[in-house]
Amino acid sequence: MKISSPRGTSDILPDQIAAWQALEQTARTLFKTYGYSEIRTPVFEDTGLFKRSLGETTEVVNKQLLEVKSQREGAADDAAFALRPEGTASVVRAYNQYDLGREEFLSKLFYIAPMFRGERPQKGRLRQFHQIGAEAIGRGADHPLLDAEIIALSVELLKSFGLSDFKLKINSLGSAQDKQKFADWLRAELKDKISHLSDTCKDQYERNVFRLLDSKDEDCKKVVQGLNIGTRHLSDSGLKYFEEVKKGLDQLGVAYEVSSQLVRGLDYYTHTVFEISYAGLGAQDALGAGGRYNGLIEQLGGGDRRFPEPVGAIGFALGMERILLALEAQGKTVVSKPSIDVFAVAGKLEFEKDVFALVNLLRENGISADMDFGCGRAVKKQFDQANKLGARFVLVLGEEEMRHGTVGFKNMFTGDQTDVPRNEIILKIKSML
Ligand code: HAM
Repeated sequence: MKISSPRGTSDILPDQIAAWQALEQTARTLFKTYGYSEIRTPVFEDTGLFKRSLGETTEVVNKQLLEVKSQREGAADDAAFALRPEGTASVVRAYNQYDLGREEFLSKLFYIAPMFRGERPQKGRLRQFHQIGAEAIGRGADHPLLDAEIIALSVELLKSFGLSDFKLKINSLGSAQDKQKFADWLRAELKDKISHLSDTCKDQYERNVFRLLDSKDEDCKKVVQGLNIGTRHLSDSGLKYFEEVKKGLDQLGVAYEVSSQLVRGLDYYTHTVFEISYAGLGAQDALGAGGRYNGLIEQLGGGDRRFPEPVGAIGFALGMERILLALEAQGKTVVSKPSIDVFAVAGKLEFEKDVFALVNLLRENGISADMDFGCGRAVKKQFDQANKLGARFVLVLGEEEMRHGTVGFKNMFTGDQTDVPRNEIILKIKSML
């Protein structure tokens, strides 16, 4: 029986790898420009970390955590691990664990990594997917211009991947107190309107009323659309902060739309939240999202009594699979083309060992080289293989060449062929690369 990859996961095959590497390379370069350093955290963490940060009532924790169980006998405690559904919680855990704030006023960290959620798979929604994410954490992170910078960075990333026509929505949830006020107001407004809604919506009303604002349920959507939310929940300082963020975005020339219904599906957010979508993707149209999460550092045991300033934090994550889908929809897919400097061909099976030695010599000299392991396949077949690998030059060791101590040399771009003395072949190729 053939075994396939688990549902909701996919292999990235060699002909797709150039597109992935292009995203990664572009992201790394841009992160450097903005002063971000890479961080790599474990693929699994204590389940409690996600419960405490993302929130027990969120879909991600409540329904989608993929738990890791140890087979080791008596390893009861080991059962309490889960594959990371996102990167923020782990980065904050690491920030606290290594006391990164002791030395750094502001830690700017990025990651490019696989994430795992037990979702119902569909186009653009996977159980293993990849995020390009960034988190700015520290005493220097509580500044509206940093919100503008990080939003601009996520937009700039998408642009530099070659994407266009995406839309940025922003909103502010305000401080923790503002957010509570917002939740109370929502409950009061919806109290008389939820009786005819589905059980799921009623449950969301009870457990996490914000979820109703991005519900996919049609009845619920209608009710929510009738709400006049605005910025009523924001205190003066919350409102002022949001105004500064918007001014920062205007200054950077970043186009945005303010959406008072944007609340995000994870509990840790306060103040600024944002989402970038591309309509061409259909139902799963979010290319990326992020926001501020000022209280999370303390909530996970961090925070710094040594310094007067509170620790702030803001970040985002972009979904790589969705970016690639959007690039495909816009006809901008990067195609992988194999390429190698040299392919060496054996005119006869008995010269295979000499070809093997020649390939090895080329590699020792930093020239990428390969050969056919076909046990004496016809020369034509070996040339076909050279073409498939995108070889620039083909070297042939046949009867004549072996007798005269030469190598047949063919330039695959121009078609030119010559004989080159064996001891000159490295210099010849190097001069042409
Ligand atoms: P999120 O909105 O859950 O936020 O995910 C960010 C992006 O990851 C989404 O917009 C989407 O592109 C992609 N994504 C999420 N789930 C899936 C899935 N099942 N299949 C494919 N792509 C998916 C976060 O993860 C936050 N940690 C973002 C953040 C960072 N906030 C602050 N810092």
